[in-house]
Amino acid sequence: MKVYKIAQIPGDGIGRDVTAAAWAVLTKAASAGGFRFEGREFPWSCKFYKETGAMMPDDGIETLRGFDAILLGAVGWPAEVPDSVSLHGLLLPIRKAFVQYANIRPHRLLPGVQGPLKAEGFDILCIRENTEGEYSGAGGRVHQGTADEVAIETSIFTRTGVERILRFAFERARARRGKLASVTKSNAQKHTMVFWDEVAQQLAAEYPDIEVTSYHIDAMAARMVMAPESLDVVVASNLFGDILTDLGAAIQGGLGFAASANINPDRTAPSMFEPVHGSAPDIAHLGIANPIAAIWSGAMMLEHLGEMQAAAAVTTAIERTTAGGIGTVPGKDKTDTITEAVLAALA
Ligand code: IPM
Ligand code: MN
Repeated sequence: MKVYKIAQIPGDGIGRDVTAAAWAVLTKAASAGGFRFEGREFPWSCKFYKETGAMMPDDGIETLRGFDAILLGAVGWPAEVPDSVSLHGLLLPIRKAFVQYANIRPHRLLPGVQGPLKAEGFDILCIRENTEGEYSGAGGRVHQGTADEVAIETSIFTRTGVERILRFAFERARARRGKLASVTKSNAQKHTMVFWDEVAQQLAAEYPDIEVTSYHIDAMAARMVMAPESLDVVVASNLFGDILTDLGAAIQGGLGFAASANINPDRTAPSMFEPVHGSAPDIAHLGIANPIAAIWSGAMMLEHLGEMQAAAAVTTAIERTTAGGIGTVPGKDKTDTITEAVLAALA
């Protein structure tokens, strides 16, 4: 029997609840699919930071390297640990160290879910660059606390980084409806963003079957609201992709439905699967977090592992659940109720 080693990092707040839900569904999907998960849970979180002074141990990355995939809940508890510390101590280093350069985020309405838009028939796949760009962490502060204080944060765009994310997006577009929207702000940012546009144009020559259009981020934000059905694959830099995917989450009914996969396409290290939402301290421990985003992220993990049938089974179970009116409205159903419904729908 095939066994996959999965590192579970529930993290903070509702991350714990939704990871447990996803794990229950994944375990059941595995036994139906004739394979098995061997899970190991890591307590790395803000609580761990308060106890040890670090978000994960020094050898954390090397420990994770031995796993087939990582299932993550959410990181952050700003009342206790600044977000800039917790995120740069756990989530962001994993994405970078494991070259998870493609952050894939699907945005479509699940059956029975009422989005805020009139449009219902959209199916967008956002692909966000995940290792460099505006979130490279390059920069510094001088004259701190004085009137002469200076803060600089430099975006880093490498040809390797830009080319590989665009190529990945072209390939995804080819496997879908053949349309690619490349998002920059090259009318205002004349170095990095013009460079991105140029690389997109160069690659377009290799993909004559793909209809590629360049958009500015501001126009894309409007398009995702006004004409989301016109979009297929959307590719953007780290910051722009971050913002657009919260917009994507909003038009699909909320963060409770937004799944994501941090993929290392070359498979030289494990990939990581996590809901787009954060730790939501305000509703943590109320038991009302929607686990659908985490479960859907689990389905993306199954797909990445090559367990296509199990992935489809989980996606179908989610769709049956929401079609039955469960988990469709934020806060209406308990986490456990939604999880049990997905488990029951998992044929
Ligand atoms: C996300 C999150 C993170 C990101 C934060 C928490 C650093 O917002 O996954 O979208 O921006 O990457
Ligand atoms: Mn985000």
